Amino acid sequence: MSRAAATALPGHPHIAYADGSLHVEQRALDGLAREHGTPLFVYSAQWMLDALAAYQRGLAGRDALICYAMKANSSLGVLRLFAQAGCGFDIVSGGELARVLAAGAEPARVIFSGVGKTRAEMRQALDAGIGCFNVESEAELEVLNAVALEQPGRRAPVSVRINPNVDPKTHPYISTGLKGNKFGVAHDRAAAVYRHAAALPGLQVVGIDCHIGSQITEAAPYLDALERMLDLVQAIEAEGIRLHHLDFGGGLGIDYNGDTPPAADALWRELLARLDARGFGDRRIVIEPGRSLVGNAGVCVTEVLYTKPGEEKNFCIVDAAMNDLPRPAMYQAFHRIVPLREAAEGQALRYDVVGPVCESGDWIGRDRDLAVREGDLLAVLSAGAYCMSMASNYNTRPRAAEVLVHGDRTTLLRRRETIEDQLRAEQL
Ligand code: LLP
Repeated sequence: MSRAAATALPGHPHIAYADGSLHVEQRALDGLAREHGTPLFVYSAQWMLDALAAYQRGLAGRDALICYAMKANSSLGVLRLFAQAGCGFDIVSGGELARVLAAGAEPARVIFSGVGKTRAEMRQALDAGIGCFNVESEAELEVLNAVALEQPGRRAPVSVRINPNVDPKTHPYISTGLKGNKFGVAHDRAAAVYRHAAALPGLQVVGIDCHIGSQITEAAPYLDALERMLDLVQAIEAEGIRLHHLDFGGGLGIDYNGDTPPAADALWRELLARLDARGFGDRRIVIEPGRSLVGNAGVCVTEVLYTKPGEEKNFCIVDAAMNDLPRPAMYQAFHRIVPLREAAEGQALRYDVVGPVCESGDWIGRDRDLAVREGDLLAVLSAGAYCMSMASNYNTRPRAAEVLVHGDRTTLLRRRETIEDQLRAEQL
């Protein structure tokens, strides 16, 4: 892409029209679509590294560990990029552990979250030597203690996820720190749970954690959660239980449609100032960002299969669907959709952009003004987080291919799935 002629999309510094066609960094998306087919996920490595750098700036000079919440995008090539950039990882299953170790992560920099860890997953993580289990209930403490003691003298490093009961002001499905949510231990129970954990011989208390939700676009919920967590730290430490690290989870939002979340560095400067003011500035800080490290790095390129005038609406039927991009169907999420050709021919019409899956819920964008013809290519923006990692084979559709772009270099991270891949685990 000739930089001078490029017009970056607002909020997407590495996605720009140059010479009339949409590029990710220096690669034209239409060329990548011709080479790899559609639907195709394309990621900007530089966007991911810049996003990480913002957190690193915000936490500079501190003992801090950034654990990328790999559920946002767990492709090996993405994990390797973050591992090489010094990240730790937040995992939520034995599968994620195997994946992240395959990508070259250091086990000691891995933390294990989630409300339903199985005994087998606990053994796998203990054998690997992970850094911390983020325990979410008293029952889980007991089981983890027993699993650790299967090897005499072994102790599982634990932190208890506390529920600060703070409203993150986001979609109810992705708000996790309220009293009614299944996550974490109630604020009022926290001190008792810590006393219990400290008394179990197979556990070693190392920290405390919380995670209040996802796609958070304001600083206030973080500041409230921090204050409430520090109140607990004081109470717990007053009982002689030392908390070496404080884990504030993830959740920082991205710009999907003019959203204005605080910048990671500014947010962390503000949080650290509070932490210092309350005398906890010496603690190790752990964070678990997911979406904000990958979300706006990615686009999904899709081809217009048909345009179909309807009685009430026009439909633009594309070859990507809810199995590739589940967020609109699941959370009524908004993803911008733009053409790959900058100067569209013909008149724009208002369309619902929908996929081929046999459900009315299979939509990608509603009421979008587009000048499109069959065979045109579109890019669905903000598709780096919770798209490919949530993709399914519904309607026996193959999972899409993924390409990483860095400068003018491209790497095929994942080939398109074949029908043989899908049938492999089944038998008659
Ligand atoms: N830590 C824990 C314990 C989590 O549960 C999550 C996300 C994260 C960290 C990372 O949160 P992030 O920084 O990505 O917001 N599929 C939904 C989002 C689900 C988030 C689940 N937990 C979506 O597409 O909006």
